[in-house]
Amino acid sequence: MYLDANQPLELQTYLINKGWISPDETLLSLTKPGEGNMNYTLRVQTNARSLIVKQARPYVEKYPTIAAPVERAVIEGQFYQRVGCNPILTGAMPQLLGADIDESLLVLEDLGESSDFTHLYQGSTNGPNHTLSLDELRQLVAFISLLHNQFRVAQPDPAFANQAMRTLNAEHIFNYPFLADNGFDLDTVQAGLQALAMPCKQDDALKKAIATLAEQYTSNNRAEFYSLLHGDYYPGSWLHTKAGTRIIDPEFCFYGPPEFDLGVMLAHLHMARQPMAVLEQVLHLYDRPDGFNDTLLHQFTGVEIMRRLIGLAQLPLSLSLAEKKVLLAKAAQLIHTA
Ligand SMILES: Nc1ncnc2c1ncn2[C@@H]1O[C@H](COP(=O)(O)OP(=O)(O)OP(=O)(O)O)[C@@H](O)[C@H]1O
Ligand SMILES: [Mg+2]
Repeated sequence: MYLDANQPLELQTYLINKGWISPDETLLSLTKPGEGNMNYTLRVQTNARSLIVKQARPYVEKYPTIAAPVERAVIEGQFYQRVGCNPILTGAMPQLLGADIDESLLVLEDLGESSDFTHLYQGSTNGPNHTLSLDELRQLVAFISLLHNQFRVAQPDPAFANQAMRTLNAEHIFNYPFLADNGFDLDTVQAGLQALAMPCKQDDALKKAIATLAEQYTSNNRAEFYSLLHGDYYPGSWLHTKAGTRIIDPEFCFYGPPEFDLGVMLAHLHMARQPMAVLEQVLHLYDRPDGFNDTLLHQFTGVEIMRRLIGLAQLPLSLSLAEKKVLLAKAAQLIHTA
């Protein structure tokens, strides 16, 4: 079944057959719950409740020419099941109400009309951005802190290898942004950005350090311990809801270096112009698992800043070219001096 907002009856029959809604329930509306690139996601309003239905197709929903592994839905479902034993983690996420492996489809609790945290990137040029509150910071850091410490193993679980998604992500984090001739004209994002990016693309020592990082991300070959990672821990995966801050979308999860999740989070706080006190607070609140490597943390932070500024996965940033220059230099420093 291909999920389709224009085919409510088909979906109604499907949900009834699966036992996820009752036989006398009627679908009243199918709407888009929010912005997303990868999957086809609908808010399903019935006469009795509201549900989120999310389907992974063999391509990126927003860019159908880019292939993407459908197993991501199953993996996302497995994440909810794996953390199910921890009430704090499950309380911070929507409940998993159903998973259909054959259709690569998940049914999730609807957290209600909400917005994600991508507004953090906005602010007038050189003007103040919204600053994360201590309460928000506590919730966001507690989530990965708990996840990394409670789900920590000597051997990664092969069921969570999520290799195809990692390969896809690795291409866009560690490789594509650093190709001098990748066909993506950064001046279409912001005039002058292409020239700003060139030093990163031509720095062989930097590219060598990034290749080592890529290996640590994709093949888990360095560590003695691995933590379950969210895998995409940035403001697009954090929701403001009436009940508080919630975390969604663990489709890039895997057992790997915890430095990756924290590094990604810090990188986005840099790009969202959060005050240094906020970044320091994150480091203070995070409970480092034994063996946590600050060098690796700095390097993952640096590469995430770079790839978001000069790669394909652009963000709705409000940074001037001069600010991007400063951030790129900072990112290079984090990678090199790490
Ligand atoms: N359980 C939920 N309750 C309420 N809203 C939700 C829920 N799940 C998703 N949404 C809304 O739908 C949007 C898209 O969901 P999600 O991020 O899971 O999809 P995606 O296709 O994986 O997105 P991306 O391409 O950003 O990874 C979210 O930003 C949010 O606004
Ligand atoms: Mg996603």
